[in-house]
Amino acid sequence: MRIKSPWLCWKILINKEGMPTKILDHKRFATKIKEVDDCSIQEAAKFLQQGELVAFPTETVYGLGADGLNAEAVKKIFIAKGRPQDNPLILHIHNLQWLGKLGYVAKDSLFLAEKLWPGPMTMVLYKKDLVPDIVTANGDTVGIRMPSHPVAARLIDAADTPIAAPSANVSGRPSPTNAQDVFDDLNGKIPIVLDGGDSSIGIESTVIDMSQKPYTILRPGYYTKEDFELFVDEVQYDKSILKEGEIPKSPGQKYKHYAPKATTVAYVGTSDEKFQKMNQSAKRKRTGVLCFEENKEKFPAAKEILVMGKSSDVESMAHHLFRYLREMDKRQVDQILVEGLPEKGIGIGVMNRLRKACGGKVKIFES
Ligand code: TXA
Ligand code: MG
Repeated sequence: MRIKSPWLCWKILINKEGMPTKILDHKRFATKIKEVDDCSIQEAAKFLQQGELVAFPTETVYGLGADGLNAEAVKKIFIAKGRPQDNPLILHIHNLQWLGKLGYVAKDSLFLAEKLWPGPMTMVLYKKDLVPDIVTANGDTVGIRMPSHPVAARLIDAADTPIAAPSANVSGRPSPTNAQDVFDDLNGKIPIVLDGGDSSIGIESTVIDMSQKPYTILRPGYYTKEDFELFVDEVQYDKSILKEGEIPKSPGQKYKHYAPKATTVAYVGTSDEKFQKMNQSAKRKRTGVLCFEENKEKFPAAKEILVMGKSSDVESMAHHLFRYLREMDKRQVDQILVEGLPEKGIGIGVMNRLRKACGGKVKIFES
């Protein structure tokens, strides 16, 4: 299939030091949201092979992909997202043969891969020379994941290369969980968004550092410490995940993240005082509330209310959180108040995202 050439090219600008710098013109493409079929998958794979970016669905969140073995293509990811250069990218693969080509795989890593892939787990391993330095931000380890979304698998297979892909949002914004959210952030910067419907999980993969013992969860997610410990010994959470103020081991965890435009505050607990405080705050500003099903009548002062599911259903909260933060921005509220959960199991991953969306503004009440 012939790919139409993009209508604008690279721009050459002169930087502060008087040197020419090449930047990607952000109005370069007429971005299309494409329904998934053999034709659109082939078209997207061709773009990847030609060194362009393509957004695609995964079971966690949508990814912004480039050919992971092409350093020039990977550079475009950092430009399109406005992503700090010291934040490494995950390589997405669709079969285990690639694992050994990209990283040094010990017995435990292979066992985890066989048990938990395809799925929402990213393993950090020592990298092999095939992996370009830009992917690992010049580090000696690489993050590798085999997504379970069939469209992601078909795309990686068709492109016949590992796909480097961060979440397909502009850096700092909540990760996109559907094609429209990607379009809202990246319209004009990429040729294609493959539309695979809503991401089922809704928060990004669990990142586990398998390069040394004890194995360390660098970013919590759907798979928990307990899930990993079914298969390997000695798994711990990075200290920064359970305790505020610690410096995270993973570069990506130190940045401001997942933040909607409106000021966001989390309220955890079930006491009457919590609901009183939320309503008092909601009276002062145009407020959107993300709440649990059983509490939806408790926010008379809120202008907008979106229900994330029952408080007992952590997976439903994960599924809805990013999407509803973005939805509240569209509804132009001044602040978003979100009910939080105890930090247990998947709740650790969900609260990790919510804490970052709130810039640490989390109020704890009695339960
Ligand atoms: O679910 C996901 O993981 C999604 C989908 C698209 O696969 N991707 C994603 O990528 O969330 P990104 O770039 O938004 O987040 C990757 C995280 C960052 O926190 C990054 O610092 C960390 O993984 N990471 C990647 N490579 C690493 C490495 N070699 N060592 C430590 N952390 C790494
Ligand atoms: Mg991200």
